[in-house]
Amino acid sequence: MQFATVSKSTTTKFYKDVLNGLQSSPKRLDSKYFYDDIGDELFQQIMNCDEYYLTGCEMEILKTQSADIASTVFASEKNFDVVELGAGDCSKSVYLLRQILRRNKSFTFFPVDISKHVIDLIKEELPKKVRGLNIYGLNGEYMEMLKKANQLSAKRKLVLFMGSNIGNMNYEQSLAFCKEVRNSLKTGDYLLIGFDLKKDPQIILNAYNDKKGITREFNLNLLRRINRELNADFVIENFKHFPVYNPENGECKSYLVSMCKQQVTIDDTDLIELEENETIHTEISTKYSIEQINKMAGLTGFTEVEYFYDEKEWFVDVLWKCG
Ligand code: AVI
Repeated sequence: MQFATVSKSTTTKFYKDVLNGLQSSPKRLDSKYFYDDIGDELFQQIMNCDEYYLTGCEMEILKTQSADIASTVFASEKNFDVVELGAGDCSKSVYLLRQILRRNKSFTFFPVDISKHVIDLIKEELPKKVRGLNIYGLNGEYMEMLKKANQLSAKRKLVLFMGSNIGNMNYEQSLAFCKEVRNSLKTGDYLLIGFDLKKDPQIILNAYNDKKGITREFNLNLLRRINRELNADFVIENFKHFPVYNPENGECKSYLVSMCKQQVTIDDTDLIELEENETIHTEISTKYSIEQINKMAGLTGFTEVEYFYDEKEWFVDVLWKCG
């Protein structure tokens, strides 16, 4: 007879990260924990918000310039596979995949995602949108899966890391991430990476503070998730969603501000004290200048090849080559 192992919430990495973040000064929570099922749904709604321009800008780039991106890569390399880190629903990459397939029928697309559900959906839905595409879904952490793709195929790689996901890392993390990608690739491989650009500060701030309050709900859902999964008792009404944008360093940071002096318990045992107006930092969404992007390429072992902008020049997908 087999007994199911009960994993107590307090043994999970989620619990440890939450406790560690809330016991730090200043308090913080990791934005990767936004994305439970409800968070995923709220993020979908954010991407459709009028104020959240990022998705529309990058979609425009992929819709209108995928042929140019494919031609640039094919000019020096005919036989390569494509790996997409954080593939999601592939709604943007689908345009590029079609263009690549027109030029080479035999490449493999390796979508990488932390969610098994997402990978299963891609395997089911993508063949209907890109007929004849070889798909090998990889469910797991980015770097591990990138290494796995290299073990599975010795072909050159074009890695996609879009959606301004790089912006959710601080400067040191983003450099470390790019270096790790570079070290997993060979000279001559490519990385297409999406950066949100510095622009009118009000446009940026509005994107993280939409009128319908969806981003507010997205931020507060993190506390709701902690209540649900870690048996905590955050009173959601006692917290305020507060994004700020610093045009000097391009950092848009979101906070949850405690509106009163209060105590929160996690799993009946851990007591967290919050002062009135005390902050919990929940997310960074960095905005870049082209100079900063080029500097990042140089520092991490890439050379810039080409820039693909939307019409307003609010967003850029840059093609880097491993030097
Ligand atoms: C996923 N990421 C690039 C989004 C961003 O813009 O930083 C997440 C997000 N947070 C609030 N709105 C959107």
